[in-house]
Amino acid sequence: MACAPRRGLFCAKAMTAPVTLFHVSDLHFGAEDREALAWFAGEVARDRPDWVICTGDITMRARHHEFAAAQAWLSALDAPVMVEPGNHDMPYFNPVERFVSPYARYGVLRRAVYREPQLDGVAVVPLRTVAPAQWRLNWSKGRVGRVDLAHALAGLSTAEDCGLRLVACHHPLVEADTTATASTRGGRHALAALARAGAHAVLSGHVHDAFDMMVDAEGTPVRLIGAGTLSERVRATRPSYNRLDWSAATGLVVSVRGMA
Ligand SMILES: [Fe+2]
Ligand SMILES: [Fe+2]
Repeated sequence: MACAPRRGLFCAKAMTAPVTLFHVSDLHFGAEDREALAWFAGEVARDRPDWVICTGDITMRARHHEFAAAQAWLSALDAPVMVEPGNHDMPYFNPVERFVSPYARYGVLRRAVYREPQLDGVAVVPLRTVAPAQWRLNWSKGRVGRVDLAHALAGLSTAEDCGLRLVACHHPLVEADTTATASTRGGRHALAALARAGAHAVLSGHVHDAFDMMVDAEGTPVRLIGAGTLSERVRATRPSYNRLDWSAATGLVVSVRGMA
C-alpha cells in the first residue's frame, strides 16, 4: 500500500523486501552516448531494479526530437522510471516558451515515461533545482526556491514511516569534489532543512561524475549521492550509473557502476 499521494513519493509501511534502485543522470539526448545507453539498458534488463531514477539533463538543448528520442529510450527500459528536469531540459531557442511554459516539453516526456514502482519502505521525494532564469549570468547553475523546498519538506513529512527517505534533484546541493560545480544557491540551507525533516540522502546529477559523501548539515548528517553521465559529455570518468541497494537490515549500500 502506498502511504503518500505526492508525486514521486511511494512508501509501503511494512518494510520487508530489499529494494534496488538504479540512479542515472545526464542522458543528454542530442549528445548521447549510444554505447553507454545500450549498456545501461542491458544492466536494467539483467538486474531488474525496482526503480530507475533519472536526475535530469535528459536532453542537450530541449529540442522536440531530443525529447522524443529520450522518451522512446526511457519507455523501453525494463523497470519503472522517475525523472526530474535538469537545466538542459528547458527551451533554449524559444525565449517566450522558456518563460511562459518552461517545463511543457519535459512534462510531455514525464507523463509518458513515469511508472509507479512497488516499493517497500522507501520514499523518493522530488526537489526542483532548476529555473528558467536567475539573477546571475550563468543560468545553468542550481537554485532552490522557497516553494520548491516547501514541497519537498511536505513530501518528507508524509514519509515518516519509511525506512529510507531520499530526495531527488538535478544539482548537488553543496559542492562535491568533482571537476564541474553546481553553485546551488540556497543549497546548503535546503540541505539542512531536508536533513532535519528526515532525509537520509539526496540524489543528484549535473556534474557528470559520480560521488558519495556524508555532509554535516548544520549538525545533522546527510548523505549526498551524485550520478555520472551516459552522454558523450564525460568529464573525469567514463559513463556510469549508481546502484542503490537498501533493506532495513543492511541499510543503504551504493556502488558506482562504470562502463568498461
Ligand atoms: Fe548535464
Ligand atoms: Fe545540468
